[in-house]
Amino acid sequence: MGFNIAIDGPAGAGKSTIAKKVAKELSFIYVDTGAMYRAIAYYMLQNNVAKDEAAVAKEVENVDVKLAYVDGEQQVLLNGENVSSFIRTEEVGNMASFVAKVSEVRAKLLDLQRNLAKENDIIMDGRDIGTNVLPNADVKVYLTASSEERANRRYKELCEKGISCDRDEIERDIIARDEQDMNREIAPLKQAEDATLIDSSHMTIDEVVAAIIKLK
Ligand code: DC
Repeated sequence: MGFNIAIDGPAGAGKSTIAKKVAKELSFIYVDTGAMYRAIAYYMLQNNVAKDEAAVAKEVENVDVKLAYVDGEQQVLLNGENVSSFIRTEEVGNMASFVAKVSEVRAKLLDLQRNLAKENDIIMDGRDIGTNVLPNADVKVYLTASSEERANRRYKELCEKGISCDRDEIERDIIARDEQDMNREIAPLKQAEDATLIDSSHMTIDEVVAAIIKLK
């Protein structure tokens, strides 16, 4: 059994940025489970599958998701094709939140996630890692920040990339995605009883990284 760190929290809380840094400092493998849901969402969008739970449940039978690591960076393989550079859009993120409600989708990814954790020292982020995927994780963190702060960070990030966007629309999107992820029937986003809550609204990235490493 590897040493397992579970990080859950809402969209845009900085989970992946933080988890990547912690992984580097501890020489752990970083597992981004959101990317797996995004890959399935990307497949559904590419194949014009309706935003309908039964349709998604049926189509997911044709989907195979695997992870690979290139220079320490996680890559997602969708039916053998590396789709990592296509899954970061808002459209794919919103569809990922939809497909994540479907039990057949979650079942498909659960074994993959658990097997990675069994064999390696990992830090895994997502929505249900501490509550459902790795209930016996050695360290559990619930990382959050106000929706205002999360929207500000996302807005800044997109502006820096030269992508034009509307800050208030970003905040509305974030709130809608949280609602969907927190209120679904299967494995909703919530803080595990034994997780440490970190609100990063007024913390730097390095402060959050240090706080997590201290929990080890
Ligand atoms: O973290 P992210 O934005 O890449 O995740 C995209 C969506 O995937 C998220 O809105 C909900 C879903 N997800 C999930 O249901 N369970 C996880 N462990 C990770 C992501």
